[in-house]
Amino acid sequence: MAASVLEQGEDAFRKLFRFYKRRNPPPDFSNVLDFSKPETHFGKVFTTDLSTSAVSDNAAHKCGLHPVRKWKAFSLDGYPGFIFITNPFLPGSQRYWVKQCLKTYTQKPNICNLDMHMPQAETENLWEKSLPGMRLKDSVKRAPKTLLEKLRWVTLGYHYNWDTKTYSADRYTPFPNDLHALSEKVAAVCGFQNFSAEAGILNYYHFDSSLGIHVDESELDHSQPLLSFSFGHSAIFLLGGLSREDPVTPMFMHSGDIIIMSGLSRLVYHAVPQIVMCTNSHPVPQSLAEEFRNENTEDSIVQTVSKDDWKICEEYMRTSRINMTVRQVLKIGTVFPSEASNKRTVKGQSDAYYDDHEENGTSEIKRKKDV
Ligand code: OGA
Ligand code: MN
Repeated sequence: MAASVLEQGEDAFRKLFRFYKRRNPPPDFSNVLDFSKPETHFGKVFTTDLSTSAVSDNAAHKCGLHPVRKWKAFSLDGYPGFIFITNPFLPGSQRYWVKQCLKTYTQKPNICNLDMHMPQAETENLWEKSLPGMRLKDSVKRAPKTLLEKLRWVTLGYHYNWDTKTYSADRYTPFPNDLHALSEKVAAVCGFQNFSAEAGILNYYHFDSSLGIHVDESELDHSQPLLSFSFGHSAIFLLGGLSREDPVTPMFMHSGDIIIMSGLSRLVYHAVPQIVMCTNSHPVPQSLAEEFRNENTEDSIVQTVSKDDWKICEEYMRTSRINMTVRQVLKIGTVFPSEASNKRTVKGQSDAYYDDHEENGTSEIKRKKDV
């Protein structure tokens, strides 16, 4: 039985989440929107105009992006403020962001899920520590798992506190300049000229991982968008409404695709029930297999990934998906509420949510509002 695209009513979201999470037998994907084939979704999917003049061709190129006039962007009936941009990355440049997520952003002082279980000395340089294991060819029989394979999330900038569900001034390290620049360009073409990337949550999905139903509401300025970048194997994204009972729309996210949640779609429920492995002859999706066509200039932000580094990344990406979500936390020109009032607000939540993000024996990256 196919799940209805717009299933409604109590627990509709949970039902649909379970439907699309199933692997054996796999669910019927015929109701899943595919923005790379927009013509098949007549009446639901509309092309949307971007501010092509907000980012010059040169600025886009430095971030590894096609000129904005070549991007394809879509809106979705019933979801004002939701924008879907199909892979705007230049050939080869997705590889740079994948390498950053695995090799650079995993370095201290950034925080990752492994820090919750291990002393810092053991989680330092996890790329280097994983190299010997990742170089072994037979990934199925490889044991024990490398730290890279145990990685589930990394936080950047204002480090999200999973216990209190808050950001705070005292958990901050500089946000990476390259990802800040990329985010600024993407936000600007969507009409958000003042967006400033202040917090990032990077999600690392093994092919059998999922992300529970949740709303991203901890940021203090909801007038700014949430940006989400997908790399690697495709995934099903479930887009709901402001209430759990609202209709839910399933869609594919492919490597390079960008989702912008803003306006009335900034605080909607969403989830990732399943990673859908590509079945072509390449070990990784086609757009990740592409190499740079022309060399980057000196002042490029995106640089060519070395052959050695890409070998490790490619091995990792054979079975994985990486998602970078970027948020602005504070209203421009404002500061966090005082520590005292912050503590009062979050009192009592810590215990209830404590286990949500712990490694729990299943591969669900549970968090926030749980399924
Ligand atoms: C998130 C999120 C979705 C994804 O990190 O809040 O919703 O595509 N990620 O992985
Ligand atoms: Mn989210």
